[in-house]
Amino acid sequence: MASVVLPRVMEVGPGALQKLPELLATFGCKKPLLVTDKMMVQLGYLDKVQTLLAAKGIASDVFADTVPEPTAASIQAGVDKVRAGDFDAVVALGGGSPIDSAKAIAILGKFGGVINDYRFPRQVNEAGLPIIAIPTTAGTGSEATRFTIITDEKTDEKLLCAGVGFMPVAALIDYELTLTVPPRTTADTGIDAMTHAIEAYVSKKASPYSDSQALAAMGLIGPNLRRAYHQGDDKAAREAMMLGASLAGIAFSNASVALVHGMSRPIGAFFHVPHGLSNAMLLPAVTAWSIPAAAERYADCARALGFAHMDDPTELANQKLLAELVAINTELKVPSPADFGIDKDRFFAVRHTMAEQALASGSPGNNPRVPSAEDIVTLYEQLWA
Ligand SMILES: [Fe+2]
Repeated sequence: MASVVLPRVMEVGPGALQKLPELLATFGCKKPLLVTDKMMVQLGYLDKVQTLLAAKGIASDVFADTVPEPTAASIQAGVDKVRAGDFDAVVALGGGSPIDSAKAIAILGKFGGVINDYRFPRQVNEAGLPIIAIPTTAGTGSEATRFTIITDEKTDEKLLCAGVGFMPVAALIDYELTLTVPPRTTADTGIDAMTHAIEAYVSKKASPYSDSQALAAMGLIGPNLRRAYHQGDDKAAREAMMLGASLAGIAFSNASVALVHGMSRPIGAFFHVPHGLSNAMLLPAVTAWSIPAAAERYADCARALGFAHMDDPTELANQKLLAELVAINTELKVPSPADFGIDKDRFFAVRHTMAEQALASGSPGNNPRVPSAEDIVTLYEQLWA
């Protein structure tokens, strides 16, 4: 049996942003808090949204101090704002970090406590303030997931929080907002989306429902990731990536991610590597290690992504998958941990702690080949081979 959780409304396509005032009215919301970051302010996107709302007589307030890889402290001012005000909705504008911040603000603002109270394995099924998500990258898929990730800076741990309470009521999926995303972010977020689709498809929690979303996502992402990276104003590539990222979000929200994400979060927490980048560093090695436990599933991924021919036998398809994952990292200039500036001694000093944190997140348990702590340590070490 598959238990499927989705936003109530998704507006998809160019101009979807324009639907915001109408959607707020649909949900009976009159006083939204806009949650975003400095980049959205600089790019004029926040102004665009506020102008859109003002034209319909909707006064909005703003919390624009969300940070990449949000921490408990970074969202506190937003939580305080909600607790002190009488907001009836949270509108998240930006990449995964503002959306994840907004999700935590919507729950903490209504129910209080600290984010640590809400971490996995607790299921946060309370209804916080309604969240309307407007992603500007393609993407974390956070606009269509029941997860948020907030770092506890006291322990350097990325906390996975899950539940229906974190699912936006609506998502405005407008690829026009991604046309100016720079190549590095396009690569990192695009590889993240590809990883979501692959991990959802090979997950032990996969279902025919999540499979259909994951395969469709791979069909959109595989042929368009490089195009969007090299030619940012390629509208067809951007549209395919945006839809692919959302479908991949739906796939993993309903089937979970697996070992790549489990291992990726501690690297992000300890070494401040952007989420998609740490996924990209891990994806080839973790895929190679996992293939023996789910060779047919990974071969399906290779074919769906367009990396292998439909009639390639399993083993050849998987060889092509691994070769292509490495080639994409090279072409999209994904740095090695050393090139990124991670100190090798420090990395090795914390690799056992990172392995414990990875296991505690639950994600490695969804992997087709379930690792021990020692297996994870060995995979971390392989990144330096
Ligand atoms: Fe991700």
